[in-house]
This record gives sequence, structure tokens and C-alpha cells, in this order.
Amino acid sequence: MPKVVVVYLSTSGNTKAMADAIVEGVQSRNVEAISMNFHEARIEELKDADAIAIGSSTFYYKMLPPMEKFIESLEKAKIKAKIGAAFGSYGWSGEAPAMIAEKMRALGMKVIDPVLRIQYQPVGKDLEECKRLGKDIAVQVKNKYAKAGTESKHGDTPLMHEVKMGEGGH
Ligand SMILES: Cc1cc2nc3c(=O)[nH]c(=O)nc-3n(C[C@H](O)[C@H](O)[C@H](O)COP(=O)(O)O)c2cc1C
Repeated sequence: MPKVVVVYLSTSGNTKAMADAIVEGVQSRNVEAISMNFHEARIEELKDADAIAIGSSTFYYKMLPPMEKFIESLEKAKIKAKIGAAFGSYGWSGEAPAMIAEKMRALGMKVIDPVLRIQYQPVGKDLEECKRLGKDIAVQVKNKYAKAGTESKHGDTPLMHEVKMGEGGH
């Protein structure tokens, strides 16, 4: 299973375009990644992911309700991923990504800050920002393994680096 799974819910393809660009960014750093429509996502498939990025567009000042249920179901499934990212396309208020991040944090995940919001259809530099987020996620996944390797030599439990935006480079 890929190390990074990007799950999205998108009514007209805008958030999906973001998800695909995020995957491209992760892969450009030689980390496995896949994007999946929320309807195809199976919790079992997410269990072994090192990082999960979740995206929804904003509808009526919230994330789309099925996505909210999906995130809640992650809690019951005891997923192991500790690295998270939230994103989504929006029109005028764009609450969904921050709401997704809040729910992911409640599950104990470290969510890359700030969340990524793109107004309507992502183009040009927007897609570059999405790729950049993908690169940041890949860096966090690699850090996790590097740190786990170092600490296991000392017999400690692996810990995560603080997740910060902008470490992925261009
Ligand atoms: C019925 C409806 C309600 C919407 N409500 C909001 C909203 O409350 N806030 C906002 O920022 N955008 C709102 N939007 C705009 C969408 O978030 C925007 O079109 C987005 O690009 C859709 O992305 P998607 O194709 O990934 O679903 C709304 C759009 C529709 C059609």
C-alpha cells in the first residue's frame, strides 16, 4: 500500500485536481502515493498509510457531510498514520479544510499547517502550491523513517518531527 494516501470528495473536479497535484508532488520526492475518491476509499486500505491527506470542497460553510462521517470512521478504525494534511477548493468562505484539520488533530494526527485552500478551479500557481504540499508531506514521511531508524538504535519509541509547512522545497 502506498505510504501517502490522498482522499478527496469533489463535486465538480476542483478538489480532485488538487488531490492529483498533491500526489504528483509526493511522488516527485520518490515516496509512494495514490489519490482516491472518497467513494472508493476503504478504511482497510488507509490503515497502513504513513500519511493521509483529506480534501473536501466547502458547501454551505462546511465540508461535505459524507466526508465528515468518513473522518469519524477513521477514529474507530485505529489508523496508524500520524501525519495529516487537509485541503479543498472553495468559492467564498472556504471553511472545509480547517474543519478537516481540526477533526484530524482530534484523532491525534499532526496536521501540516496552514491547510491548503484554492478558490474554485486550481490553475498554474495553485497546482504548484498543491505539489508543494505533496513535497512537504513526503519530507515528513521520510523524516519519520529517518528518526525511527536513529531512535531504534537507542531502543526508544519513534517520535515525529514537528510538522511545518515549507520544508519540501521547490
Ligand atoms: C450549492 C453550493 C454551495 C456552496 N457553498 C459554499 C460555501 O458555503 N462556501 C464556499 O466557500 N464555497 C461554497 N461553494 C463553492 C464551492 O466550494 C466551489 O464551487 C468549489 O470549487 C467546488 O469544488 P469541488 O468541485 O471540488 O466540489 C458552494 C457551491 C455550491 C454549488
